[in-house]
Amino acid sequence: MAMATLLVMLIVIGSANSLRMDYYITTFPFAESIVKNAVNKALQNDPSLAAALLRMHFHDCFVEGCDGSVLVDSTEDNTAEKDSPANLSLRGFEVIDDAKEQLEEQCPGIASCADIVAMAAGDAIFWSLTSSLSSPSSRSTNCRGPIYDIPKGRRDGRRSKIEDTINLPFPSFNTSQLINAFGRRGFTTTDMVALSGAHTLGVARCSSFKNRLSNQDPTLDSDFAKALSKTCGAGDNAEQSFDDTPKNFDNDYFNALTRKNGVLFSDQVLYTATGTRAIVNGYVMNEARFFLDFQQSMVKMGRLDVKEGPKGEVRKNCRKIN
Ligand code: HEM
Repeated sequence: MAMATLLVMLIVIGSANSLRMDYYITTFPFAESIVKNAVNKALQNDPSLAAALLRMHFHDCFVEGCDGSVLVDSTEDNTAEKDSPANLSLRGFEVIDDAKEQLEEQCPGIASCADIVAMAAGDAIFWSLTSSLSSPSSRSTNCRGPIYDIPKGRRDGRRSKIEDTINLPFPSFNTSQLINAFGRRGFTTTDMVALSGAHTLGVARCSSFKNRLSNQDPTLDSDFAKALSKTCGAGDNAEQSFDDTPKNFDNDYFNALTRKNGVLFSDQVLYTATGTRAIVNGYVMNEARFFLDFQQSMVKMGRLDVKEGPKGEVRKNCRKIN
């Protein structure tokens, strides 16, 4: 892409709302390093949390915008997003709590929970890239990756309702349903495919793909179907990694799709449908292209329906609206 086009894109994306890279520079310059340390500490104990934090940011932004609504606990009068079936396997809330506690201790009322989630996702990706550099088995020794600085200044929402999670895409979606679900939120087809590349990290549970096995899904490789059935032999919660390198941020997920080894139906359709197959092939051939598109789409995602001024607040505790 020509440099001029890229610059125009960045300016357009950058002016969509009042988020700023240096948002905390005068009010709380250590905010970002406190979050990074909390994330690093958690990931050292459990590297699989990198995937969980990335997914949490997506589930936050796609429902009511990036406003920390996914963090809110249900109360007697309100069933929150967290308790939706789509969110039951989200993990890593304690990492956000830990960061928030330290932030509030040092400088109360400044750093929002929505910003913590967004920063933690970026830190988790960075961690998965740098940890893969030191792994001898890793193919990602090229020192590149979707490392991006995210604009900050999100405020926390005051609404978190289970019914709003209907806006999340289902793993049973076909390509047009995926394109529509993302298109409604202002994402292009390329954004959607690039963001699906987040499945380079982490796992899906059997319950998310078992219907493909009973329906003998023709988009599924027969040997891979046997591997998935074996996973499911251990029950609905048994985990299957999306690709062979679930802790490394790389383009292996897209490689898997070309072998009909996509775990979810919504993964594999990206290769089955002609419109998206070219994008997948592009990412297989050029990992750097995937990284660039992914980081741009993540910054775009992080700006979804951000609450500004009195429309939001800075929660004292991420689990409770003030
Ligand atoms: C394209 C539409 C998408 C669908 C239908 C979808 C669906 C799913 C499903 C069903 C799971 C497994 C949940 C489970 O079985 O417990 C999952 C996991 C995951 N998703 Fe997505 N997802 C989509 C897009 C995204 C995006 C845009 C991101 C982030 C930018 C993302 C990040 C992740 C990650 C990292 C995991 C692994 C989580 C872990 O290991 O704990 N997904 N997704």
